[in-house]
Amino acid sequence: MGGGARASVAGGVSDALAGALTLRAASDGDLDAVVAIERGSFSDPWSRGSFGSLVGAAHVYFPVVAEGASIVAFAIAIFAADEGELANIAVTPAGRGRGLGSRLLDEVLSVALARGARTVWLEVRESNVAARALYGSRGFMQAGRRKRYYDDPVEDALVLRRTLP
Ligand SMILES: CC(C)(COP(=O)(O)OP(=O)(O)OC[C@H]1O[C@@H](n2cnc3c(N)ncnc32)[C@H](O)[C@@H]1OP(=O)(O)O)[C@@H](O)C(=O)NCCC(=O)NCCS
Repeated sequence: MGGGARASVAGGVSDALAGALTLRAASDGDLDAVVAIERGSFSDPWSRGSFGSLVGAAHVYFPVVAEGASIVAFAIAIFAADEGELANIAVTPAGRGRGLGSRLLDEVLSVALARGARTVWLEVRESNVAARALYGSRGFMQAGRRKRYYDDPVEDALVLRRTLP
């Protein structure tokens, strides 16, 4: 799903949230909320400009999940040839543990498949237990390691790969 389509993301999400959740392509008006989630999620956050440059880009899938008027999650996938990279994904701290990250990742994988990607790559901090469990649950396997890849604190990145059917 891309191109501004809206869809329910009810499946797998708790009933209390499900009714009010929508998934849609990010627009410039979402950037304040996306940057706030980013800053609340990472010690080495992306800049606002980095997000802004990806809004509406043809080679990028940048969905946000809205709960009413609030943005509660986003993801960014970048495509080139037959490969995709999950470059970012985050859920607002209060929204975690309720299936949103899984649903967003499933959506990214289905968009990747629709765009002809054969492989999806990502990098994750070695200590990021929650994200590693999420990726493992969706079939991502370790393909490599980038030594001291992250700052603040310095830490290795694990490179994970998921092959699509
Ligand atoms: C990683 C993240 C996106 C997961 O989103 P979420 O909505 O909380 O995830 P879900 O509720 O869909 O949970 C999916 C799976 O992740 C794992 N998981 C989630 N939170 C976890 C935690 N605190 N500890 C261990 N595993 C956890 C579980 O395997 C879970 O599956 P289960 O519920 O069947 O056990 C979220 O924690 C987040 O935004 N973290 C900060 C940003 C980040 O680290 N992004 C990834 C960068 S590589």
